[in-house]
Amino acid sequence: METLQRYHQDINITPALTERINELISHYPEGRQKSALLPVLHELQDAHDNWLSVELQNKAAEFLNITPIEVYEVVTFYTMFNQKPVGKYMLEFCVTSCCAINKAEDVMDYACEKLGVKPGQVTADGLFSVVGVQCLGACGYAPMLQLGDFYHEHLTKEKVDQLIEDCKADKVTLHDK
Ligand code: FES
Repeated sequence: METLQRYHQDINITPALTERINELISHYPEGRQKSALLPVLHELQDAHDNWLSVELQNKAAEFLNITPIEVYEVVTFYTMFNQKPVGKYMLEFCVTSCCAINKAEDVMDYACEKLGVKPGQVTADGLFSVVGVQCLGACGYAPMLQLGDFYHEHLTKEKVDQLIEDCKADKVTLHDK
């Protein structure tokens, strides 16, 4: 079992980020601002190398005027929130049902071996991490992975090789906005 560990994170709440978060919160009626928690967490995570330290989660609580434990409960429930540093390119392999039948774990193991990491670990250069996740709703395209906002489908070892090379060459777009 992994031991509990606190990781340092440089927190940078810029005026532009504050403006975006306040704009998100303004979409919710008076007294219901707490409902903005998920989009606020995504915004904070996107602006901080794709993970949320406890300190950053506390900032979310401040923005929404709620208690930190209300934020921790949400962050620990949803796997799309990362509680420790991840690679710039986080390869999220679906390992359930259709993907499992279509040898998702073989492809994920191949990626881990190629990158020299175990699931959940980050490569020494900080570029990659590999994780196994539950169904991503693209079962007809199994096996598949998510990288940033995009899906990569019908995976083969050759496709994984190409994706890793493209990431190293900075040819991969992570976000669609
Ligand atoms: Fe992999 Fe649904 S089982 S996307």
